[in-house]
Amino acid sequence: MSNQTSADLSSLSATVVNVAVPSGARSEDAATRDSEKNILTANQIRKSYHIGGEPRCVLNGVNFYADADECVFLSGPSGSGKSTLLSIMGCLLECDSGEISIAGQRVDQLSVSKRTRVRRQSIGFVFQRFQLIRGLSAEDNVAVPLTLQGMSLAEAREKAGELLGRVGLSLHRRQLPTAMSPGQCQRVALARAVITKPKLLLADEPTAALDGKSGAEVMELMKELVAETGSASVIVTHDPRILKYADRICEIENGQFK
Ligand SMILES: Nc1ncnc2c1ncn2[C@@H]1O[C@H](COP(=O)(O)OP(=O)(O)OP(=O)(O)O)[C@@H](O)[C@H]1O
Ligand SMILES: [Mg+2]
Repeated sequence: MSNQTSADLSSLSATVVNVAVPSGARSEDAATRDSEKNILTANQIRKSYHIGGEPRCVLNGVNFYADADECVFLSGPSGSGKSTLLSIMGCLLECDSGEISIAGQRVDQLSVSKRTRVRRQSIGFVFQRFQLIRGLSAEDNVAVPLTLQGMSLAEAREKAGELLGRVGLSLHRRQLPTAMSPGQCQRVALARAVITKPKLLLADEPTAALDGKSGAEVMELMKELVAETGSASVIVTHDPRILKYADRICEIENGQFK
């Protein structure tokens, strides 16, 4: 782990103690929770990668959940499996074993095409480095998920333009990502992630490439937009500056939650 990462983590842990954000993802919590509010449940998730022909266990029976209107932070040392878990929960990567349900539907046993459909209907993803399509304008980047759901390009563009206005980018609708600042690119990426009003928003270090002001703007917008849809959000982060946005913090280490 880099010194930077380790410093960030100890700062995050120190702040966790100070603000007393509830922590943990214990499966026994499930008994006392309101199942009607549940959006995401992951049970006994295992995942190994084969490195040099040898299997290396990254997730060793992880349990996790996120409910509607809840923002859960996922933290842990570099290499602890946060992105791997997020990708599995986002139907971007298959686990070796375990069960995943999204909005009451088991997704771990679905075919690739059915899982893709669930992803397009129910999940929005924000990446650390935006992952915008370089050759498309801001508006068309945001329109893509709607067109993948079958909406006409003209209607999708109109909705994308409205949402870009809400994230403060109405003057940048026609601009390419290469002509925009990191903070603006991340606001475009956020708009793209929420344009379909997904039940589950997943974000992998969404503020890591941003300065403090841009990071706070992105988090405020994220909070505002997911509140409107009552979505669950899961955010992988090392960034102590955004801790106040967490309803709950889960820390992963050695393939399991602490
Ligand atoms: N496609 C892959 N093939 C082989 N090993 C991988 C692959 N993806 C991730 N790993 C390994 O799995 C472990 C967990 O990786 P992951 O990216 O999930 O960690 P992370 O907690 O997100 O780390 P960071 O905070 O640095 O982003 C690491 O040891 C990584 O090297
Ligand atoms: Mg990662």
